[in-house]
Amino acid sequence: MKVLLLGGGGREHALAWKISSSPSCEQLYIAPGNPGTAQCGQNLDINPLDFQSVAAFCREAQIDLLLVGPEEPLVKGVTDVLRKDPAIQHLIICGPDAAGARLEGSKAFAKAFMSEFQIPTARYGEFDRDQAEEAIRFLDTFTPPYVIKADGLAAGKGVLICDRKEEAAEAITGMFSGEFGEAGHTIVLEEFLDGIEFSVFALTDGKNACILPVAKDYKRIGEGDTGPNTGGMGAVSPVPFVDEALMEKVRTRIVTPTVRGLSSRGIVYQGFLFIGLILVKGEPYVIEYNCRMGDPETEVVMPRLSTDFLELMTAMHEQRLDQVKIEMDPRTALTVMLVSGGYPGSYRKGMPIAGIPEELAPDTLVFHAGTRHDADQLVTNGGRVLACTAYGHDLEQARKGAYELARKISFEEMNYRRDIGMDL
Ligand code: AMP
Ligand code: GLY
Repeated sequence: MKVLLLGGGGREHALAWKISSSPSCEQLYIAPGNPGTAQCGQNLDINPLDFQSVAAFCREAQIDLLLVGPEEPLVKGVTDVLRKDPAIQHLIICGPDAAGARLEGSKAFAKAFMSEFQIPTARYGEFDRDQAEEAIRFLDTFTPPYVIKADGLAAGKGVLICDRKEEAAEAITGMFSGEFGEAGHTIVLEEFLDGIEFSVFALTDGKNACILPVAKDYKRIGEGDTGPNTGGMGAVSPVPFVDEALMEKVRTRIVTPTVRGLSSRGIVYQGFLFIGLILVKGEPYVIEYNCRMGDPETEVVMPRLSTDFLELMTAMHEQRLDQVKIEMDPRTALTVMLVSGGYPGSYRKGMPIAGIPEELAPDTLVFHAGTRHDADQLVTNGGRVLACTAYGHDLEQARKGAYELARKISFEEMNYRRDIGMDL
C-alpha cells in the first residue's frame, strides 16, 4: 500500500512510525512531515491545506491511502475535494468529510447533535452576536464557574472558564467583538462539569466503530494542573480509573449513538473520532468531539496498538470494523513533552537540540513534534518540540523510563512537566 499522511507534528511522527511497521506498507509519504517522520518515510514539501496539490500528488504517485492528521484540512473539506476527483476513486481516505468534521469545527453543531441523540454532555445554550444580552442573562441559569466557548476552531484557545459573572460577561462581549475572529461569532455557554478527564479514540467506518487504547492527556503548562492550557504536556495509556465497566458505558451511551447519529444524518464518517470525556460521579459526559487523533495522546496510543494499522484501514474502507479485534500491548505507555521556554505564550525557535540517544533503549521512543534541521544540526521549531515515550509493566516504570530519557535531552530554555502520571 502507498500511503500519504498529512501533518507534521508529534502525532504524525507516531502515526508514521506505526504505519511504517506494517508489512503491507510499500511506500510512506508525509506532507510536510518533520525530521522524525523522515526516519519512517519520505517527507514532501506540500501544504496540507493546498488540496489541489494533495490531489495531484495522490494521482501521480498512485496513493492508495490518505490519512489526515490534523483537523484543519478536514474541517475545510480536504476529503470532499479528493472524493470528487474521478482519477482517484480507488483512494481510501481516513478522515471525515466537512459535514462529519463539524463535530469538531462547530461546538454549537456538536452540542445540538448530542442533544438530538441523547448523548450525555453538559447543559448548554447557543447564542449569536446579536444576542449578547440574552447570553449574559443565560449565565444566571448556572452556578459559577462559567464555561464560555467560541463555536469555531480556535487552536485550543477558544474555551474560557470564569469564576465571576462579570468576568464571564466580559468574555462573552470579547468573543462577540471578534477576539477569536469568526470562531467567536457564535458562542456556547455551558454548565461546568467537575470531574476527571480522559480521551477515547474510536475508528469508525460509518457503520461500526472499534475503540483504541484509552489515554489521559495533561493540558495545563504547570505541575499540579496549573497555568494556561497548552496543546498537551504529556499523556498516559491505559488510564487506571477507566475500567471495563466504564468503557462499556462509553461504548453504549456515547460511541454507538454518535456513529448511528452521524449515519442517520446521511454523514458517512470514516476515520478517527476522538471523544474528550469527563467522569462525574462515575458517569461519563462528552466535553468535546475531535475529528482526528489527539496530540500527545497518539504518542502513547500508537505504541500500545498491536493490530496492524493498514489492516485496520482496509477494514474501515470495507466497512467491516465489526469483525476486527483491537489487540493492545498490555504495558503502560507514558509520554513527556519537551517544550520551548515561554510556551504556550511566545517562545524562541532555532535552539540546537542535544542528547537524543543514537540507540534508543528498547522500551523507549522519541517522537519529533516541533523540530527541523539547520544544516546538520537538529534545532527546535515550535512550542512542543519532542515527545519522550516509554513503556513499563506499570505506570511507575513507564514514568521512570520516560523521565530518564527526557533528562538526557537538552536545548536552551527547555521545559517539561515533572508530574505526568503522578495523579493516577
Ligand atoms: P474543549 O476545547 O471543549 O475540550 O475545552 C477545553 C478544556 O476546557 C477541556 O479539556 C476542559 O478541561 C475544559 N472544559 C470544557 N468544557 C467544560 C465543562 N463543561 N466543564 C468543565 N470543564 C470544561
Ligand atoms: N490532546 C488534545 C488534543 O489533541 O486536542
